[in-house]
Amino acid sequence: MKKLVDLIVGARPNFMKVAPIIKELQLRQLQGRTPSLNYRLVHTGQHYDSRMSGDFFDQLGIPFPDVNLEVGSGTQAGQTGAIMIRYEQLLMKERSDLCLVVGDVTSTMACAISAQKMQVPVAHVEAGIRSGDWSMPEEINRMVTDSISNWFFTTTEIANKNLNCAGISQDRIFFVGNTMIDTLLNNMPHLKKPDFFDELSLSIGKYFVITLHRPANVDQGDSFATLLAEISNSCRGLPIIFPVHPRTAKTIQELGQVPDNILLVNPQPYLQFNYLVKYAKAVITDSGGVTEETTVMGVPCLTLRDNTERPETISVGTNELIGTNPAAIKPALDRLFAGNWKKGGIPEKWDGKTGERIVVELERLLFTTL
Ligand code: UD1
Repeated sequence: MKKLVDLIVGARPNFMKVAPIIKELQLRQLQGRTPSLNYRLVHTGQHYDSRMSGDFFDQLGIPFPDVNLEVGSGTQAGQTGAIMIRYEQLLMKERSDLCLVVGDVTSTMACAISAQKMQVPVAHVEAGIRSGDWSMPEEINRMVTDSISNWFFTTTEIANKNLNCAGISQDRIFFVGNTMIDTLLNNMPHLKKPDFFDELSLSIGKYFVITLHRPANVDQGDSFATLLAEISNSCRGLPIIFPVHPRTAKTIQELGQVPDNILLVNPQPYLQFNYLVKYAKAVITDSGGVTEETTVMGVPCLTLRDNTERPETISVGTNELIGTNPAAIKPALDRLFAGNWKKGGIPEKWDGKTGERIVVELERLLFTTL
């Protein structure tokens, strides 16, 4: 007996989350296990640049998508609608037995809605995390996706509790760990020094990495310029490497220039980005996923947000919530330079075996309960 699982990807943070699940499914197919789970990799096309998408497929060994919905850029509702319509058409043409979505991007929510309305069950990987901040589209995506999913794969016990509080019964929740960390651990031996590393005379532990792309931080030119000036002035002359997200690039173009010690580079492929992170003095970010990677690599991380859906990176890991007031950056970096940053530990089950746990559970659910 065979069943077909749709694996949905759309935007950059999806690719590393799905890679270990694909790897595990491929392994089982090679071993000729029966009953067997087949997969169809569906790329919505939300991210389409090679630097935001294709490079990740190459480096993480993800097969070419079976289907590309090619939705491209758009407003939140425009993208959501386009993905819903195109994924519904795909399901009408060839129905799958399960729609597996990961993370919290627009593609995650849109495909979950279309699948559930077609009565295709939905499994959500990275379910149950909450920031409580409804101004972020990702929080809405998480809440909607979790409200219509059948099964929930979680990264922490905190996520389990959030789901319990929302009335989800425990038998539908599986605390499996973090697939993004599977990908990181698998790739640690293969990290690649970016070409510019030596050209810019960077040395280990003597530079910073920043990533900023949240609308609240980067969309207003004036406040973004103040933020960059504050970062630049607080890093005591050390170089600051800034891989620039396309959204952020637009604002930087309007500003015309950035402080001298902030070195702008293109969005980096996965192996180069994590090389930079691993050897940085610290990372300054508004990303969620990066705070998980810095936690596992033990690199100090300053999050420029007022909240996080990943509190374990703070309670267990190396992350600190600095907030969105630029004045808070210097005191935090002074503590770092004084050697007073926490060492941090690794959250439970972030051990590189999450993809396997998910596939074992999927086989049980699909072949015994459906
Ligand atoms: C999306 C995700 C966010 C994730 C981020 C990582 C949602 C709601 N947000 O935000 O959670 O952290 O990806 O990158 O899904 N663009 C390009 N090339 C691309 C993709 C986008 O130039 O390949 C441009 C778009 O035209 C747009 C801007 O970048 O102007 C933003 O892209 P969009 O996909 O809307 O959201 P992100 O800000 O990337």
